[in-house]
Amino acid sequence: MAYFRDTIEQMAGYTPGFQPKEADVVKLNTNENPYPASPDVLQAIQNLTAENLRRYPDPMAGTFRKAAAKVLAVQPENIICTNGGDDLLNICVRACCERGRPLAYAQPTYSLYPVLAQLHGCEVIEIQRDANGSLEQLAEVNAALTIVCNPNAPTCQLLPIDALATLASALSGVLLIDEAYVDFAEDNGIRLVNEFDNVVLLRSMSKGYSLAGMRFGFGITGKRLMEGLMKVKDSYPVDAAAIAAATAAIQDQACFKANVEKIKTERARLTDQLSALAFEVPNSQTNFILAHCVKKEAKEVYESLVQRNIFVRYFALPELEDKLRITIGTPQQNNQLLDALKEIIG
Ligand SMILES: Cc1ncc(COP(=O)(O)O)c(C=O)c1O
Repeated sequence: MAYFRDTIEQMAGYTPGFQPKEADVVKLNTNENPYPASPDVLQAIQNLTAENLRRYPDPMAGTFRKAAAKVLAVQPENIICTNGGDDLLNICVRACCERGRPLAYAQPTYSLYPVLAQLHGCEVIEIQRDANGSLEQLAEVNAALTIVCNPNAPTCQLLPIDALATLASALSGVLLIDEAYVDFAEDNGIRLVNEFDNVVLLRSMSKGYSLAGMRFGFGITGKRLMEGLMKVKDSYPVDAAAIAAATAAIQDQACFKANVEKIKTERARLTDQLSALAFEVPNSQTNFILAHCVKKEAKEVYESLVQRNIFVRYFALPELEDKLRITIGTPQQNNQLLDALKEIIG
């Protein structure tokens, strides 16, 4: 007998971005924040006692819920804490999808979505993304779960929140808006949570709050969806250290805002400089840019950067194979990248 279900035997699984072991590389490939989290985060972790670790953590992460609710002007009951944003995606697919209850999204987008659908044996309806995010087609499909990544990875574009409201009202299923990168965008969908009972927002502490290593994300939704998601989540999805760290991080809004501003400033500079170097770079609402290599094959540029210990992301997919996804680094990292590209492109 096969050890695994057919779908597991047949699927390839998700491939995370490459994590180089060496410390002296320029790492611009997995959209981490180049600046450290608030010093309060390390203090909060140091303040943990053996007693905090001996006992199970708060299953609801109440301290974080309260702190986040204050910052976001929602109720603590609107927040579900998860082991990274990825865990919320998994919970939503587990809760909403099975054979006959498909998942729909527009491509290109985050490559984890189809993997989760495969895991749960549900059909995937993949639409080619147009300039407006293909929202009208997604409304027509009306899947059990529709995911819109906003701003989208890897295309960096933010769709108008009013257009998402129109989609939410057209759908009879659930609309999950993946806002992992929203901290770097001009708008966000939080007002939809009170307006629509079929909307859940995904937030991540990995990007804006510099906590990718802690694994902490959360969902924001109304009472109706919350009841179902609570049934499906792990008993203790976030550990004591992660709760302490994430709470301290979200409470230090000054540090968060300063880091986000520095990234936005560098994003504008990198966009200008790359455009001057013969790349096409659409405006980005995220902490990365998607640069179209006009003069040279993107794969070749990517490989030449790797030889110089500079890591960006290359996707060997038809709609992305002429582009590089580049995380915004510190000014020094970005300069190293620009110098290398000047050499490579000539
Ligand atoms: C679009 C998107 N959504 C969600 C996530 C999940 O983030 P995390 O699990 O680190 O919170 C990522 C991570 O890179 C992402 O790119």
